[in-house]
Amino acid sequence: KIPLIMDVDTGTDDAIAIICALMSVDILNIKAFTTVAGNVGVDLTSRNTLNLVRALGFDIPVAVGARKPLKKALHTAISHGSTGLGDVHLPRSKNLFYPKDAVDTIYQYASSLNGELELLAVGPLTNLAEAILRHPDLIKLIKRITIMGGALRGGNMTQTSEFNCYVDPDASKIVFESGIPLVMIGLDVTLKPQLPLFVYEQVKACENKFARIATQIFDFMLRRNEQYCFDPPNLHDAIALASILLPNLITFKNYHIEIETEGTITRGMTVADFNHVLGEEPNVQAAVDIDCDVFWEWLINKFRDADQS
Ligand code: BDR
Ligand code: CA
Repeated sequence: KIPLIMDVDTGTDDAIAIICALMSVDILNIKAFTTVAGNVGVDLTSRNTLNLVRALGFDIPVAVGARKPLKKALHTAISHGSTGLGDVHLPRSKNLFYPKDAVDTIYQYASSLNGELELLAVGPLTNLAEAILRHPDLIKLIKRITIMGGALRGGNMTQTSEFNCYVDPDASKIVFESGIPLVMIGLDVTLKPQLPLFVYEQVKACENKFARIATQIFDFMLRRNEQYCFDPPNLHDAIALASILLPNLITFKNYHIEIETEGTITRGMTVADFNHVLGEEPNVQAAVDIDCDVFWEWLINKFRDADQS
């Protein structure tokens, strides 16, 4: 099994990624969820994560992380609603958060796993950067970080920048320069699959706890998108999770990528050296294409095969 910590800012598509991860515990050994401010404030992302994980019957630790980006003011996203989970209300868990914060939780598991721990980061990279700053030896202890963030071309927050990298560009810079093996699942692939109605219907038809919560989240996403744009919803964070589980889902190219931390137009841009002008070795394995059919088939099968309770 792959020992994994998921760093999340739950968040609707984060919630779908968490649900998919919890349906994959035959392959993943999820050590902890760590939370960060992003889509909404950290009190809400932590609460949403704890409620979701416990509602699905898992007692995996949930450790609270950064309240705000390293240097910038927190910028949240209105598209996930005021609580982060739209109009979905989960039972409030009475369980406590893990006694260590996100940074020390990551370090604890990284140290005890002797270089085998993988991280999946689907929010701003604040916790990971703080972990590197607080525990510099961490860079030798992490096997790989898969990041939902950035884009080789274009943005969704600004014309050049993806939301997670925009929110905490200073943290992104530290992580991208860390030397830890990085996989970037950016908008180049996460914007391609758009939730088709037949996938929604098939998930809805599954009679289990995972599908019931996912359907409520999809309902919110579908209504929201009808109101604000004409495109069906994207599941950015679930695609990053799937990339760990499905080796043939995504095509990659290696690039040297730097982060713009200021920039009047380009704050948070993941700048790839396409023409090798810097002569630097690549530091990122970047997603360039995705097989959408494979992704949807995987998603439907996950819900169909899930524990029927
Ligand atoms: C990313 O931004 C957030 O709103 C989503 O949860 C995802 O992680 C997409 O740009
Ligand atoms: Ca997210």
